[in-house]
Amino acid sequence: MMEIRRMEFDDIGQVAAIERENSLTPWNETGLFTYLIRDDTLFLVACGKDDSEILGYAGLLMVPYEADITNITVRKECRNLGVGTALLEELFKEAAENGVTDIHLEVRESSAAARHLYKKLGFTENGIRKDYYTEPPEDAVTMTRRTADLKKNAVKDG
Ligand SMILES: CC(C)(COP(=O)(O)OP(=O)(O)OC[C@H]1O[C@@H](n2cnc3c(N)ncnc32)[C@H](O)[C@@H]1OP(=O)(O)O)[C@@H](O)C(=O)NCCC(=O)NCCS
Repeated sequence: MMEIRRMEFDDIGQVAAIERENSLTPWNETGLFTYLIRDDTLFLVACGKDDSEILGYAGLLMVPYEADITNITVRKECRNLGVGTALLEELFKEAAENGVTDIHLEVRESSAAARHLYKKLGFTENGIRKDYYTEPPEDAVTMTRRTADLKKNAVKDG
């Protein structure tokens, strides 16, 4: 059983711990709080059977019609069970309700699981940002998911 819900202030401690354990450049409590209070962001958490146990989280920063995925992280022991997929699908649904048609992101070139997941959910790779990441240095692959392209491909496929 998994539930996807809006991230709340009380979740910040657990999410910061997930960041520390899973990210090379973790967001801290203050960074998470700063984004959570903005009205142009959308942050979701995935919970296990107990609503207070967070398995992973994802965040989106929106401008009119477009958005950027700022982060998505799932606890190591909960990966490959569909948590990332569920977080992203709910993020897309709520973004669409906010008028967002195009979603962009950057991902480390070596993040094979993330790149696979994004492609599976309709993102297309469209560029490389040289040395975008530090600690350790790495290129970013840029990807975009356009609602118009998804509709075109759905017509083409069937
Ligand atoms: C990316 C991430 C959020 C995915 O979360 P998750 O809960 O494991 O996602 P899901 O279970 O929904 O899907 C994972 C998919 O990746 C695939 N996958 C796993 N490891 C892989 C690898 N090394 N290469 C290619 N695909 C891989 C799985 O088979 C699955 O695909 P499928 O649904 O077609 O079988 C998680 O791996 C993570 O937190 N990574 C570290 C943080 C990160 O890199 N975030 C992305 C920042 S841009």
